[in-house]
Amino acid sequence: MSERLEDIAAAIVADGKGLLAADESSGTIKKRFDVIGVESTADSRRDYREMMFRAKEAMTKYISGVILYDETIRQKAADGTPLIDIIKASGAIPGIKVDLGAKPLAGFPGDTITEGLDGLRERLAEYYKLGARFAKWRAVIDIDIAKEVPSATSIGSNAHALARYAALCQEAGIVPIVEPEVLMDGAHSIDTCYEVSKATLLKLYGELYAARVVLEGTILKPNMVISGKKSGKKDNPEEVAEKTIKLFRETVPVAVQGIAFLSGGQDDEEATANLNAINVIGPHPWKLSFSYGRALQAAAQKAWSGKASNVAAGQAAFIHRAHMNHLAALGKWRP
Ligand code: 13P
Repeated sequence: MSERLEDIAAAIVADGKGLLAADESSGTIKKRFDVIGVESTADSRRDYREMMFRAKEAMTKYISGVILYDETIRQKAADGTPLIDIIKASGAIPGIKVDLGAKPLAGFPGDTITEGLDGLRERLAEYYKLGARFAKWRAVIDIDIAKEVPSATSIGSNAHALARYAALCQEAGIVPIVEPEVLMDGAHSIDTCYEVSKATLLKLYGELYAARVVLEGTILKPNMVISGKKSGKKDNPEEVAEKTIKLFRETVPVAVQGIAFLSGGQDDEEATANLNAINVIGPHPWKLSFSYGRALQAAAQKAWSGKASNVAAGQAAFIHRAHMNHLAALGKWRP
């Protein structure tokens, strides 16, 4: 496989393929396991992820790469094979989450800044040696208009950090997945999501340009334009698609190699339907695919529930969602 950044990025958004975001931090995966009554230990986390990485149909046909957490990239399967080797053997590309999480932004209650730049050059060099060829950094932008969240300072600081991260990745031969997530947790309208996402992406691409990041060797991982969960409104996929594409045409340079959405708390089928609607109204200047965490894994977690006897059922649930999102990435999914 080519080591050129553009080629790795192109492979990530190859026709009908997308990313499995399996990079939940230990705190987040514990929350997911709590829901299915499974204790979160190094072994249970390994068993669960090994189950997905060995789901052959999904990993060879629908998944282009996997975003790993630091623990997972070093873990071995139950039979002693490094998990990263199982991923590579399926033809998928290993990637790694490198940010250290969103922390409160001093002076701006309700805003966060993602940390992890100190020592990042050295960490990237190690991850490259371990086999990672792309990385992920997630900036978190919440919306609470009454409290003036997000502030321009938060949008600017997060865009600047994303640009510094992306430049360091490219120096290390690693494709940066640039993720400025505007959260869908609030009570805001779809049009407010559009406005905040627009301010965020405009700032982001200004900073990436200033940092001399080569856009052809990057992937954008954005939210869709969608109403906040607490608004009680469920948008139809056609409206999400139209507003999301309008936003990207106004803000995302054509040079960007591809766009791989986060699911952000959308239901499994909603995330598939919206991605499909986005691709149905194409052609677009970029590939538009998925980099889902929850929307690819929730059904598999439930089916597995921590029991070795449920591994085949867990894999079947994962394969099904990966297949549906494969179709959606091609605009060929039907309910
Ligand atoms: P969700 O699809 O669950 O939002 O997770 C994707 C991800 O990697 C968020 O950083």
